[in-house]
Amino acid sequence: MSRSIDWQALLAAARAARAHAHAPYSRFAVGAAVLAADGRIYAGCNVENASYGLSMCAERNALAAAIAAGARSLRAVAVIAPGPPVATPCGACRQVLAELAPRAAVLCASLDGRRLRTSVSSLLPRAFGRRSLATR
Ligand code: THU
Repeated sequence: MSRSIDWQALLAAARAARAHAHAPYSRFAVGAAVLAADGRIYAGCNVENASYGLSMCAERNALAAAIAAGARSLRAVAVIAPGPPVATPCGACRQVLAELAPRAAVLCASLDGRRLRTSVSSLLPRAFGRRSLATR
C-alpha cells in the first residue's frame, strides 16, 4: 500500500518557495512543491523576466528541480498563489505535468485559505504525449 500524502508538508514547502518568487512585473507570487515516491519534496517559485515571455512558472520550476535531482516518480503537487479564485496551473504547466507527473494528485491553495483538490489527469484530459508520437 502506498503511503498517504502529507499535504500539509507539501503545501508548507510550496509556501516557503513562494516567499522567494521573483515577480516584480505581475506581483503575483506563486509557490509549488512536488512529492517524489521516496518522500522527497522539491519546490519552485515563479521567476519573471523583463522580457516577459521568458517568465517561468512555479510548477515547472519545481518539476525541473525534481528532475535535476534524479526524482522520476512524482506523486503529488501543491501550488499556492493569491486568490480568490484559487489559481490552477496554466496550460503550459498542465502539459509539462502530464509528461512528468501524469498520475499525480494536485492541491491548489489560495493565500486566503481556499483549497481545490484535483489531479493532473483531470486538469488535462486526453493530453498530447509520448503515445501520440508513436504512430510516426
Ligand atoms: N504563474 C505561475 O507561476 N503558475 C501558474 O500556474 C499561473 C501563473 C505565474 C506566471 C507569472 O509569473 C505570474 O504567475 C502571473 O501570470
